[in-house]
Amino acid sequence: MKHQGWIEMHSHVLPHLDDGSNSIMMSLDMLRREAAQGVSIVCATPHYYADQASIGRFCQRREASFQMLRSALSYETLPRILPAAEVAFFSGMGECADLEQLCIRGTRTLMLEMPFTEWNDFQIEEVSALVLDRGFHVVLVHPERFCGSKNNVWRLKELAELPVAFQVNAGTLIRWRTRKLGLKLLQETQYPLLGSDCHNLTTRPPNLAEGRGVVARKLGETFLMKMDQSAARLIEPAAEKVVP
Ligand SMILES: [Fe+2]
Repeated sequence: MKHQGWIEMHSHVLPHLDDGSNSIMMSLDMLRREAAQGVSIVCATPHYYADQASIGRFCQRREASFQMLRSALSYETLPRILPAAEVAFFSGMGECADLEQLCIRGTRTLMLEMPFTEWNDFQIEEVSALVLDRGFHVVLVHPERFCGSKNNVWRLKELAELPVAFQVNAGTLIRWRTRKLGLKLLQETQYPLLGSDCHNLTTRPPNLAEGRGVVARKLGETFLMKMDQSAARLIEPAAEKVVP
């Protein structure tokens, strides 16, 4: 059954920016697959690495790619694209003045990729500062990839208390070897999210519908609704949340 209005939190759909889409045609086909699954909003999250480009330069390139793709859209009904970034953790990000430019457009939601190492106190403190001192809504992308060490598993529990949202990849739930871990992490956070983290049409395709099917079967429709509410809340324009 086709559903309406799903939010894709994590995608590499913008062309020519990273290891995701390498052409406008591929981007359009990825968006068509998202639409066919019932997705109406796609967060475009190209990789951002602080040691490779300034935030200003990255945003210029992202905007050029976004506009190029938009100009190629025709009469088709395709999902709305929200420019964002998958920000690789960098030292000093807790005080970085330009960080808001990397959030999902119009929000204070930051999609954060933690380091692929053992996390230390300083790194956890930087993430805490982003949440508690600067009011960012931090989404930890694919936390399942960092569970190779007991230390990180324990620190993930700490981060979930802040609170920090966890975005598990649909593929993690689809593969039976990693399914249990993915479902456990979704239940650990107050703000569970699913994303396809799609990079192309073959090896890492848009597969949100399949992942949602696993959540529905294993955790129930009510949990799925909770995920959709988390996603909707995190893409709300920041200005709308200000209470007079
Ligand atoms: Fe990604």
